[in-house]
Amino acid sequence: MGSNTAQKEGPSPTRSPRKVELCHIDALPERRARGFDPFNHGRPSLFVVKKNSVLYAYLDICPHYGDTQLPWKKNEYLDKTGDVIVCAAHGARFDITSGNCISGPCLGQSLTAVGLQVSKDGLVTVQIPS
Ligand code: FES
Repeated sequence: MGSNTAQKEGPSPTRSPRKVELCHIDALPERRARGFDPFNHGRPSLFVVKKNSVLYAYLDICPHYGDTQLPWKKNEYLDKTGDVIVCAAHGARFDITSGNCISGPCLGQSLTAVGLQVSKDGLVTVQIPS
Protein backbone atom coordinates (compact mmCIF):
# COMPACT_ATOMS: atom_id res chain seq x y z
CA MET A 1 0.00 0.00 0.00
CA GLY A 2 1.41 3.37 -0.95
CA SER A 3 2.18 6.07 1.52
CA ASN A 4 -0.05 8.59 -0.28
CA THR A 5 -3.29 6.94 0.89
CA ALA A 6 -3.69 8.88 4.09
CA GLN A 7 -6.85 8.12 6.00
CA LYS A 8 -8.44 10.02 8.79
CA GLU A 9 -8.55 8.07 11.96
CA GLY A 10 -10.65 8.48 15.06
CA PRO A 11 -14.11 9.93 15.39
CA SER A 12 -15.23 12.66 13.07
CA PRO A 13 -15.40 16.04 14.73
CA THR A 14 -18.83 16.61 16.18
CA ARG A 15 -20.08 19.26 18.48
CA SER A 16 -21.47 18.09 21.74
CA PRO A 17 -24.53 19.77 23.17
CA ARG A 18 -24.00 22.28 25.90
CA LYS A 19 -26.02 22.69 29.05
CA VAL A 20 -27.64 26.08 29.63
CA GLU A 21 -29.05 27.13 32.98
CA LEU A 22 -32.56 28.54 32.87
CA CYS A 23 -33.49 29.23 36.49
CA HIS A 24 -34.15 27.62 39.86
CA ILE A 25 -37.29 25.47 39.97
CA ASP A 26 -38.69 27.69 42.75
CA ALA A 27 -38.68 30.62 40.32
CA LEU A 28 -41.39 28.85 38.30
CA PRO A 29 -44.79 29.24 39.98
CA GLU A 30 -47.50 26.62 39.59
CA ARG A 31 -49.75 27.10 36.51
CA ARG A 32 -47.56 29.86 35.19
CA ALA A 33 -45.19 30.00 32.25
CA ARG A 34 -41.94 31.76 31.63
CA GLY A 35 -39.96 32.35 28.45
CA PHE A 36 -36.21 31.87 28.10
CA ASP A 37 -33.62 32.57 25.43
CA PRO A 38 -30.98 29.83 25.70
CA PHE A 39 -30.26 30.12 21.96
CA ASN A 40 -29.45 33.84 22.28
CA HIS A 41 -31.99 34.90 19.66
CA GLY A 42 -32.68 38.13 21.47
CA ARG A 43 -36.21 36.95 22.28
CA PRO A 44 -37.66 33.96 24.15
CA SER A 45 -37.05 30.84 22.11
CA LEU A 46 -38.61 28.38 24.53
CA PHE A 47 -40.94 28.50 27.49
CA VAL A 48 -41.43 26.42 30.60
CA VAL A 49 -44.78 25.71 32.28
CA LYS A 50 -45.24 24.15 35.71
CA LYS A 51 -48.40 22.13 36.24
CA ASN A 52 -48.96 19.84 39.24
CA SER A 53 -45.28 20.32 40.15
CA VAL A 54 -44.15 18.95 36.78
CA LEU A 55 -42.22 21.11 34.31
CA TYR A 56 -43.03 21.12 30.60
CA ALA A 57 -40.99 23.01 28.02
CA TYR A 58 -41.75 23.85 24.40
CA LEU A 59 -40.19 25.92 21.66
CA ASP A 60 -41.87 29.31 21.45
CA ILE A 61 -43.08 28.68 17.92
CA CYS A 62 -46.71 28.12 17.01
CA PRO A 63 -47.19 25.20 14.59
CA HIS A 64 -49.94 27.12 12.81
CA TYR A 65 -47.88 29.73 11.00
CA GLY A 66 -44.18 30.26 10.34
CA ASP A 67 -42.12 31.02 13.40
CA THR A 68 -44.83 32.98 15.18
CA GLN A 69 -44.27 33.29 18.90
CA LEU A 70 -47.20 32.46 21.15
CA PRO A 71 -47.60 35.18 23.79
CA TRP A 72 -49.13 38.59 23.29
CA LYS A 73 -47.04 39.89 26.18
CA LYS A 74 -43.91 38.71 28.00
CA ASN A 75 -44.53 35.33 29.70
CA GLU A 76 -48.27 35.32 28.83
CA TYR A 77 -48.37 31.79 27.39
CA LEU A 78 -51.44 30.54 29.28
CA ASP A 79 -55.11 31.43 29.30
CA LYS A 80 -56.45 33.24 32.35
CA THR A 81 -57.26 29.96 34.12
CA GLY A 82 -53.69 28.69 33.70
CA ASP A 83 -55.07 25.44 32.30
CA VAL A 84 -54.04 25.69 28.64
CA ILE A 85 -51.35 27.24 26.48
CA VAL A 86 -52.71 29.84 24.06
CA CYS A 87 -51.30 31.38 20.91
CA ALA A 88 -52.24 35.05 20.82
CA ALA A 89 -52.06 35.31 17.02
CA HIS A 90 -55.14 33.26 16.08
CA GLY A 91 -56.25 31.67 19.33
CA ALA A 92 -54.91 28.13 19.05
CA ARG A 93 -55.08 26.33 22.40
CA PHE A 94 -52.65 23.62 23.49
CA ASP A 95 -52.69 20.99 26.23
CA ILE A 96 -49.93 21.80 28.74
CA THR A 97 -48.87 18.20 29.32
CA SER A 98 -48.70 17.04 25.69
CA GLY A 99 -48.31 20.24 23.67
CA ASN A 100 -51.11 19.03 21.38
CA CYS A 101 -53.41 21.62 19.85
CA ILE A 102 -56.87 21.06 21.31
CA SER A 103 -58.71 23.83 19.45
CA GLY A 104 -58.05 26.46 16.84
CA PRO A 105 -56.47 26.57 13.39
CA CYS A 106 -53.73 23.97 13.97
CA LEU A 107 -55.85 21.19 15.44
CA GLY A 108 -53.92 17.92 15.14
CA GLN A 109 -50.54 19.61 15.35
CA SER A 110 -48.32 20.06 18.40
CA LEU A 111 -45.83 22.36 19.98
CA THR A 112 -42.25 21.09 19.88
CA ALA A 113 -41.28 19.68 23.27
CA VAL A 114 -37.89 20.47 24.77
CA GLY A 115 -36.21 18.21 27.32
CA LEU A 116 -35.27 19.73 30.65
CA GLN A 117 -33.08 18.53 33.47
CA VAL A 118 -33.52 19.49 37.12
CA SER A 119 -30.51 19.04 39.38
CA LYS A 120 -30.70 17.81 42.97
CA ASP A 121 -30.47 21.40 44.15
CA GLY A 122 -33.30 22.52 41.86
CA LEU A 123 -31.39 24.11 38.98
CA VAL A 124 -33.35 23.80 35.72
CA THR A 125 -31.22 23.34 32.61
CA VAL A 126 -31.68 22.54 28.96
CA GLN A 127 -29.21 20.96 26.55
CA ILE A 128 -28.82 22.75 23.25
CA PRO A 129 -26.55 22.17 20.25
CA SER A 130 -23.21 23.99 20.47
S1 FES B 1 -49.90 31.59 14.57
FE1 FES B 1 -50.60 30.61 16.40
S2 FES B 1 -52.71 30.31 16.06
FE2 FES B 1 -52.01 31.21 14.24
